[in-house]
Amino acid sequence: MKAVVYTRYGTPDVLRIEEVTKPTPVDNEVLIKVHAASINAADWHIMTADIFLARLAMGLLKPKNPLLGGDVAGVVEAVGKDVTQFRPGDAVYGDVLGARHGSFAEYVCAPENILVRKPAQLSFEEAAAVPLAGITALQGLRDKGGIQPGHKVLIQGASGGVGTYAVQLARHFGAEVTAVCSTKNLDMVRSLGADHVVDYTREDVTRSGQHFDLILGINGYHHILDYRRILNPNGKYVMVGGTAAQFFQALLLGPWVSKLGSRKMVVLSAKSNQQDLAFLTELLEAGQIAPVIDTCYPLSEVVAAFRYFGDTHPKGKVVITVAPEHA
Ligand SMILES: NC(=O)c1ccc[n+]([C@@H]2O[C@H](COP(=O)([O-])OP(=O)(O)OC[C@H]3O[C@@H](n4cnc5c(N)ncnc54)[C@H](OP(=O)(O)O)[C@@H]3O)[C@@H](O)[C@H]2O)c1
Repeated sequence: MKAVVYTRYGTPDVLRIEEVTKPTPVDNEVLIKVHAASINAADWHIMTADIFLARLAMGLLKPKNPLLGGDVAGVVEAVGKDVTQFRPGDAVYGDVLGARHGSFAEYVCAPENILVRKPAQLSFEEAAAVPLAGITALQGLRDKGGIQPGHKVLIQGASGGVGTYAVQLARHFGAEVTAVCSTKNLDMVRSLGADHVVDYTREDVTRSGQHFDLILGINGYHHILDYRRILNPNGKYVMVGGTAAQFFQALLLGPWVSKLGSRKMVVLSAKSNQQDLAFLTELLEAGQIAPVIDTCYPLSEVVAAFRYFGDTHPKGKVVITVAPEHA
């Protein structure tokens, strides 16, 4: 089968499409014929090894696993002997990053307990745009953030992969949403349901005099004490992504700052799971949330897709079509 392969860390030019052995599912796994996959920041970090400590797990000098890709949508082609939830022919989707990653390929194997049936009204491309980003937004708002109806929620970095789900989910949970992004994306985040929008190129939301019950920090940089200053009593700042400085502040200073009063500063480490993907599936089926896709590239243009992902600020997700549905 064809797969995206990389044997050294670096820019998107390290990616090659090669013939590799088609995987065989073990007892608890299904073999998925991949229709679409999507790019996440995690794939970028795995490709570039720009977070040096991650090399301890991924391979110090070169990648131990030459395959790339987590988010996948496709059709079950074969099942292991212990699989009970799926049969050949079922359309499924999920995030295989924590399992045997390699979704930028014609086939991938995954344990059945991380997959969910694809919502019928979603294309494979739309479904592939959901798992990691959607689950991150959900766990950030609901599990780490403790979002409640009526909460004033700030989504910092609202127009990317995670942010577009965060805005929609925060609205679903009944919050009043303030979304921060750049000028060109203000209308888009408004259309996702944001009550208020802030253009970070013109206004510093931490100096606006507004206060929030929950801040989801997905991108951009503000000092952790600036975030604390704009939290209401009992408010929470959840660090999802952004610069290294932001991460280390949240990790090292967060616990101390949290001890100084009722405002809490925490770091999210999202973990994909079947239950949360099933929760998102219900919302997708009910039309309460929808994926935002910036661009779809064919598998043959995976290098261009990664360049686009790294060089621009995509609106929502960048998707790779591996096998067009009606080809
Ligand atoms: N903690 C976890 O478990 C976890 C899980 C998944 C992802 N992540 C991290 O979460 C982040 C999110 O990734 P993503 O794919 O959603 O999108 P992203 O490309 O990292 O961020 C896109 C968003 O950030 C905004 N942005 C860019 N520069 C900004 C600035 N200076 N101030 C405010 N906003 C700014 C963009 O606005 P414009 O496009 O309008 O400029 C856009 O809304 C990544 O850092 C990723 O590593 C963490």
